[in-house]
Amino acid sequence: MKREPIIYLDNNATTQVDPAVVEEMMPFLTEFYGNPSSAYSFGKIAEQALEKSRERVAMLLGCEPREIIFTSCGTESNNAAITSALSLDPDRQHIITTRVEHSAITKHCEALAKRGIEVTWLGVDERGQLDLHELERAIRPDTAIVSTMWANNETGVLFPIEEIAAIVHKKKAIFHTDAVQAVGKIPINLASAHSHINFLSVSGHKLHCPKGVGVLYVNRRTRFNPYLIGGGQEHGKRAGTENVASIVGFGKACKLAGENMEHENSFVRGLRDDFENRVLETIADAQVNGDREHRLPNTTSIAFDGIESEAVLMLLDKAHICCSAGSACTTGSIHPSHVLKAMGFSTERARGSLRFSFSRFNTMTDVEKALHVLPQIIAKLRQMMAVA
Ligand SMILES: Cc1ncc(COP(=O)(O)O)c(C=O)c1O
Repeated sequence: MKREPIIYLDNNATTQVDPAVVEEMMPFLTEFYGNPSSAYSFGKIAEQALEKSRERVAMLLGCEPREIIFTSCGTESNNAAITSALSLDPDRQHIITTRVEHSAITKHCEALAKRGIEVTWLGVDERGQLDLHELERAIRPDTAIVSTMWANNETGVLFPIEEIAAIVHKKKAIFHTDAVQAVGKIPINLASAHSHINFLSVSGHKLHCPKGVGVLYVNRRTRFNPYLIGGGQEHGKRAGTENVASIVGFGKACKLAGENMEHENSFVRGLRDDFENRVLETIADAQVNGDREHRLPNTTSIAFDGIESEAVLMLLDKAHICCSAGSACTTGSIHPSHVLKAMGFSTERARGSLRFSFSRFNTMTDVEKALHVLPQIIAKLRQMMAVA
């Protein structure tokens, strides 16, 4: 299947698989297809590859290889962390999370609430930041787990995770962070003396690895009950034959992410900043959503007055430009983003917002092309709205 060249500015949705990742995976899809649990040496080749990957992931996160559990995706990692915490003590059945989490947390917590688990939802201010005093006050003797994301997928806003983890630790609850958008984009060091993170979720496809592989970091001192029960894979912490090729790719992707971290913070940040500044200069009544200081280097969420972002997406699509809307179209109706609504923005602002997210595979030419097309689309739609 051939496709038109695209300008892909939606790297928080998923990323291009790095060709070097594919190259490293290929032998495990073709030649070395053994089961890592098999006792013979053909299986051992796969097992050794798994362990090498575990070391590479641990290196990126600054933790020990034995603290890494391979899963199928970020969603599974998030579900596993919360389920485990709830399973440890029947007298601790209270969860604290935030109103701006990804649906991999919110929908799970909503489902748990329907089954009688009490959930406290923390709000955010206009910058997308939490009130840490409110968080501290919310933690109770029966709190099983506090789960807050590291980086917001829509706005890129970063929560002060080490500070949050320290508060939760002081109050003797378990702390989980959904770091799916943070890993590979900002430095993370779980071994640091200040780290009180019990669980951390990662997803391969957000860092130039294929879809269908994730990681749950489980601190070696944290009790963990497996989510998937069956064989003894992953040292009994996650049953199911491992997705060897993707795990090998994940290890390589983490190695590359570590090597590219500086680049992410200079080149990718530069692309984002250039794009954002020039959008704000050339398009009237456009504003950035959320804290611009504590933010991922690759993300910008911009609200445009008087337009529907879904319409912009359709016109950008015609120009082969991919980005995301601050709303989701499901079964014929448009739902404004829960993140932007939680930040106190109006439905109109949420519905007029677009997210652009960059990666090391973007170029200045991508930015120039997008900057050429976007102002025309916004002007055209505003004109149409004015006439209507
Ligand atoms: C913050 C966040 N958490 C979790 C997920 C889910 O990850 P996965 O697609 O690997 O299940 C995503 C995916 O967009 C995300 O952005």
